[in-house]
Amino acid sequence: MKLADNKATLSFSDGKPSIDLPMYQGTVGPDVIDIRKLYGQTGMFTYDPGFLSTASCQSAITYIDGDKGELLYRGYPIEQLATNCDFMETCHLLLYGNLPDAAGKEDFTKRVTNHTMVNEQMQFFLRGFRRDAHPMAIMTGLVGALSAFYHDSTDINNPQHREISALRLIAKMPTLVAMAYKYSMGQPYMYPKNNLSYAGNFMHMMFATPCEEYVVNPVIERAMDRIFVLHADHEQNASTSTVRLCGSSGTNPFAAIAAGVACLWGPAHGGANEACLNMLEDIQKTGGIAKVGEFMEQVKDKNSGVKLMGFGHRVYKNYDPRAKLMQETCKEVLAALGLENDPLFKLAMALEKIALEDDYFVSRKLYPNVDFYSGIVQRAIGIPVNMFTGVFALARTVGWIAQLNEMISDPEYKIGRPRQLFTGSVKRDVLPISQR
Ligand code: SDX
Repeated sequence: MKLADNKATLSFSDGKPSIDLPMYQGTVGPDVIDIRKLYGQTGMFTYDPGFLSTASCQSAITYIDGDKGELLYRGYPIEQLATNCDFMETCHLLLYGNLPDAAGKEDFTKRVTNHTMVNEQMQFFLRGFRRDAHPMAIMTGLVGALSAFYHDSTDINNPQHREISALRLIAKMPTLVAMAYKYSMGQPYMYPKNNLSYAGNFMHMMFATPCEEYVVNPVIERAMDRIFVLHADHEQNASTSTVRLCGSSGTNPFAAIAAGVACLWGPAHGGANEACLNMLEDIQKTGGIAKVGEFMEQVKDKNSGVKLMGFGHRVYKNYDPRAKLMQETCKEVLAALGLENDPLFKLAMALEKIALEDDYFVSRKLYPNVDFYSGIVQRAIGIPVNMFTGVFALARTVGWIAQLNEMISDPEYKIGRPRQLFTGSVKRDVLPISQR
């Protein structure tokens, strides 16, 4: 980051001396006001719950222009990556800052593939869960449990440890997500197959059984890979910020990623894809497109507590570019499966059309986000609704790791420790219980 010529002056109406605060510029996007010395100079904190106006770090990984609806991974537009690259190339880009050449891609893919199996002991963790446990409950446990198996790579300050744990996490997430699914189905786990692509291997572990050959459908495989690319990273979102804050204590990478999985589960974040599909199915059950008008009135009624899941975003005040690409993928997959008339897809398109013409949504700049269509395409592929967020976590793992590694490699990083505006009781004495 570069010191800006401009600087900010903070003055106080009660005559306290004003202070000058340095400003910094990035390569693109808003400048920042450096408030690190504010407390030392004024004895006051800034106040920004939800971090609406706060840059928590400097980063060179992902850039979002919310007004334009633009998303760049290391400078490359998501539209070009989703069309011209696959998930392994995208992982290489996010982790190392550049797209690999053919040899580099082959080497990276081989290094990931060699780590797709999990320790045989991992299967015994699953036995402790009910068969109907939510897959994200299982994933939160399994990812954290990985740190119990890799004592050789838990020192987050060791670059070699960071490298090997990155490969292990990227490689093992599909295996763990598929195991959570098989466990819920009462079916045997399928081991990874090293001759399959990353997406093809995931589909094999999810849908194959020992009873017959499973042939990966190339259209679905490509769609699965694109879903991974679209979910790979997204700047300082809630789960990435969780991973950074958790990792800032020096804990091991597996524990930090497990914290990200737990945060992503929430319906306001990665859990929105599951919530969106459930919303669409509820509308479908109660009358479908004929009921959309009534549903939208509920959404606009603040007291109803009903939100249009898959819509709105803290940063995008325009169409989420991932939603557009996901809609295209939806069309491709539904056509390939002969499901062009999928009622839920038609319902989602009708909801989107109405919302984009309704002043409630237009005035609040609410557009479809990545979660609005992702559930429909995953459901068409055969992934159950309660597995959607697990797929999101699988794809986002590379982004979490890239962000964590960037933080640890930043000489300026410290353990994150925000302060507060205290509104509780001032000091008071404990009275004997007989006098309380
Ligand atoms: C992801 O941060 C990321 O980058 C996340 C993510 C990633 O890749 O990591 O992009 C992934 O989490 C996408 C978002 C998935 N969540 C949902 O789809 C859940 C539904 N969306 C909302 O909960 C909401 O839009 C958020 C949480 C996504 C954003 O909330 P903000 O930025 O805090 O905005 P807000 O709640 O203050 O909303 C502003 C206004 C409010 O109305 P007013 O009080 O101004 O009258 O818009 C309304 C909100 O009530 N609003 C909605 C709405 N989202 C916002 N009203 C109806 N339906 C919605 N979905």
